[in-house]
Amino acid sequence: MAETITITDDRTGKTVTVPIEGGVFPSSAIRELDPSLFVYDPAYMSTAACRSDITYLDGANGVLRYRGYPIEQLADRSSFIEVAYLLLYGELPTPIQLEQWKYNVTHHTFIHENMRKRFVDGFHYDAHPMGVFVSAIAALGTFYEGAKEIEDEAQRHKQILRLIAKTPTIAAMSYRFSQGLPFNYPDNDLSYPANFLNMMWQVGKDYHVDPALERAMDILFILHADHEQNCGTTAMRVVGSSHADPYSAAAAAASALYGPLHGGANEAVVRMLDEIGSIENVPAFVDSVKRGEGRLMGFGHRVYKNYDPRATIIKKAAYDVFEVTGKNPLLDIALALEDVALSDSYFIDRKLYPNVDFYSGLIYQAMGFPVEMFTVLFAIPRTAGWLAHWQELLTDPDQKISRPRQWYTGPDERDYVALTDR
Ligand code: ACO
Repeated sequence: MAETITITDDRTGKTVTVPIEGGVFPSSAIRELDPSLFVYDPAYMSTAACRSDITYLDGANGVLRYRGYPIEQLADRSSFIEVAYLLLYGELPTPIQLEQWKYNVTHHTFIHENMRKRFVDGFHYDAHPMGVFVSAIAALGTFYEGAKEIEDEAQRHKQILRLIAKTPTIAAMSYRFSQGLPFNYPDNDLSYPANFLNMMWQVGKDYHVDPALERAMDILFILHADHEQNCGTTAMRVVGSSHADPYSAAAAAASALYGPLHGGANEAVVRMLDEIGSIENVPAFVDSVKRGEGRLMGFGHRVYKNYDPRATIIKKAAYDVFEVTGKNPLLDIALALEDVALSDSYFIDRKLYPNVDFYSGLIYQAMGFPVEMFTVLFAIPRTAGWLAHWQELLTDPDQKISRPRQWYTGPDERDYVALTDR
C-alpha cells in the first residue's frame, strides 16, 4: 500500500500527492493546491504543530515515555532531578554529570531578597498561591540581565538552571505567604523533593522530612514532568516563538496550567469525593453521572483511551504515603467509585478510566497540602518539560513565530455611522 495521500481540488482539477511520514500529513500540500486555502482545526485536534524528540504518548495503549524511557521504569528507578536532566539534555546523565547537575541546581535555589520582601509582600494576604506563583515566575526574569539573550546557548542553560532550582522555593514561598507564615530558606543538604517539603512545612527545628514522603513527592514530580503538547506546553512554545525570555514564557505556561480544565482536575476530584460523603452514596452518584448530571472527575482523558499509566503508579504511591500519614478518609469512597465505574458498561463503552488526577489529590491532601496548592505542585516539575520544549523550539529550523490564520465570519465592509445617526 502506498504511503501517500492524493487530493484533488474539484474547483480546479489540480491534484497533489503527498507522502505520509510517521502518521503525519504535511499541511504544505494544501498550500500547494491553493495558497489561499486554510485548514480549520479549533483546539488543534488534528494538528501536529512541531516535531519533538522529548515525550512519546500512545493513548490507545496507555504508553508514556520520556526520551524513550517508559514512565514506569523512571518512576520506579529514577529521581526527578535525573528525569529533568533527561528531558532537557536528551540522555540520562553519567554519574559525574548527575553530581554536577545536582550541585548546580542545589546552588541556585535561593531567590533575591527583594523578590520575597518587596514583590511577594505586595500581594493581598489571602492571594491564591498559583496566582502568586505565576506572577513570581514572570518577575524573576527581571532579576537576570542575561534572560533575554536567548540566542546564547550558555545563557539559555543558565536560565534553565535557575528556573528548575527556584520553582520549589517560589512555590513554598507562595504557600507560606498565603498562610502568613515566615519564609523558610532552602537547605543545601537536602534532596530536591526534601528541600521543597522542608521549605513548606518546617516550623522550628523539630521537623524532619519522612523518607517515604520524600520518595512519594519525587515520584509525583517524575509523573508530572512532561506530557508533550498539552495546553501549558503549547503556551510555552507559542510565547517562546516570539523570542520572549524563558521566564515570561514559563509564566504563560503556568497561567494555562492554572485553568480548571488543565491543572485543576485533582482539586475537583477531592471536592467530588467530599460531596459524595460516604460509600453508600456511590451508586446514586454514579447513576446521576450516567443521567448526564455532571462528570466523574478524575475519569477519562483526551488522549488515553485505555488507561492512564500514571494513574496506576500513583495508586501504588498513595498507599506508601498513607502508611505514614494515615489513610485519607476519602480513599474508601474513591476505591468504591473506581470499582463501580470500571464494571459499568457506561464507562467501559466510553473508554473512561481513572486518570492521573484521580489519586494525586488524595495523596496531596494526606500530605497536608491545601487544595489551592495542587496546581502549584503540578507546575514545579512541569517547568522541566516546558523548558525542554522551549529549548527544542529555539533550535528547530522548522519553527517560526506562531501565527495561526483565522476563518473570518464577521460583517463585510460597511461605512462608519456618525454617533448622532445611530
Ligand atoms: N464522567 C462521565 N462521563 C464522561 C466523562 C466523565 N469523567 N468523561 C467523558 N464522559 C463521556 C461524555 O459525556 C461523552 O459521552 P457521550 O458520548 O454519551 O456524549 C463521552 O464520554 C466522550 O466524552 P468527551 O467529552 O468527548 O471526551 P473528551 O476527550 O473531550 O474529554 C476529558 C476528556 C475532558 C478529560 C473528560 O473525560 C473529562 O471531563 N474528565 C473529567 C475531568 C478530568 O478528570 N480531567 C483531567 C484530565 S487529566 C489531566 O488533564 C492532567
